Amino acid sequence: MAFEQEAKKNFPTWPIYDEAEIEALAEVIKSGNWWCGSPSVHKGENVWKFQEAFAKYQEAKNCVAVFNGTVAIECALLALGIGLGDEVIVSDYTFVASASAVVATNAIPIFVDIDPETLVMDVDKVEPLINEKTKAIVPVHLGGNPVEMDRLMEIAEKHDLKVVEDCSHAHGSRYKGKRAGTWGHAGTFSFQASKVLTAGEGGAIITNDDELADLIYSISDCGRNKNEYFYKHFRYGSNFRMSEYQAAVLNVQLKRFPQQHELRNQNARYLSQKLNAINGIRTMKPTPGTTELGWYVYPFVFEPEKFGNITKEQFYKTLNDNGIPTDDCYPPLHGLDCFKNVDLRKGIDYSSANWGGSKSNDANFPVVSDIYSRSVEFPQEMLLTSKDKLDWVAQFIESMKK
Ligand SMILES: Cc1ncc(COP(=O)(O)O)c(C=O)c1O
Repeated sequence: MAFEQEAKKNFPTWPIYDEAEIEALAEVIKSGNWWCGSPSVHKGENVWKFQEAFAKYQEAKNCVAVFNGTVAIECALLALGIGLGDEVIVSDYTFVASASAVVATNAIPIFVDIDPETLVMDVDKVEPLINEKTKAIVPVHLGGNPVEMDRLMEIAEKHDLKVVEDCSHAHGSRYKGKRAGTWGHAGTFSFQASKVLTAGEGGAIITNDDELADLIYSISDCGRNKNEYFYKHFRYGSNFRMSEYQAAVLNVQLKRFPQQHELRNQNARYLSQKLNAINGIRTMKPTPGTTELGWYVYPFVFEPEKFGNITKEQFYKTLNDNGIPTDDCYPPLHGLDCFKNVDLRKGIDYSSANWGGSKSNDANFPVVSDIYSRSVEFPQEMLLTSKDKLDWVAQFIESMKK
């Protein structure tokens, strides 16, 4: 009992920061240069430093920082020429942004079901969705778990499709020795408040293609070209720029990241051993070929019949009421109101989509619908704890069985 009380108080909270972040922000304020601007005019020191450091960490040639992970996907798709009438294949099990960014380009997301064990896009189900309108794929490395990128890239090459990896959960993940985000044409990241690297909001796009990087930069900065006159706008672009405040915090957080990443990784492996030993619990299985897993959320699936036919809501409420921070997983995209009711952009014909009205029935997305009905997740910061607390979590879940 004493340990239970202790556990309630002591799971880490997020974000983790100290004086270093406060000093970095104070320095930006005092510098008088609060924005990053175009490199030829106002060289935002923090943004340019972060881009370099993050590209290095992710082992990519280029990084363009933007103000969130949603516009990062939009910007990458626009730079790759995706637009009106194009279809883009997206995992059905993800945050809405993976698909709303596609909608923002006037293209049509097409949802693909997941693998029941790894919980990421089932690559075997991609090819049947490809037709002459298909122009891109957005694989999502859910919870840091990589999609089978070698097989997906083979399919993309065969059909001449662009690939934007949504790495919003996959900072530090590696598949078959290569960083997530460096398999596709571009990889996008989020630094939103719950993410493992955060400034409250923020995003980035990485790519090994220099020309594409310049185009992404241009689209993110009002259609400017690097080192050209400030009021020359060469193409359609918007203002997706990251601010100096965001970058100042990210530069400090990036220094903390490798150690946190290692601890999360070790603890996730330990917790998975404990939880998988419970009859009725199955944790997300790392995709075979994963060489480093940058855990973000930690999803797991339970069998209701082993827990007295408990509902998912009761399951995570019981854990929360007992001091174990637990959340619902993402509702599959096909059933979200905006897709079910086809209430998206004016003037766009969504009739070819595999969602909307009765097409949005769960029966058309059987794996993800079943998994969603009985899966919950722990937040990433819970993994920054000690092994005895993880033992207690496993013991508590075992004790919920009926
Ligand atoms: C998988 C996924 N993609 C994209 C995003 C969008 O990122 P942001 O919130 O930074 O716009 C998020 C999270 O917020 C996400 O979880």
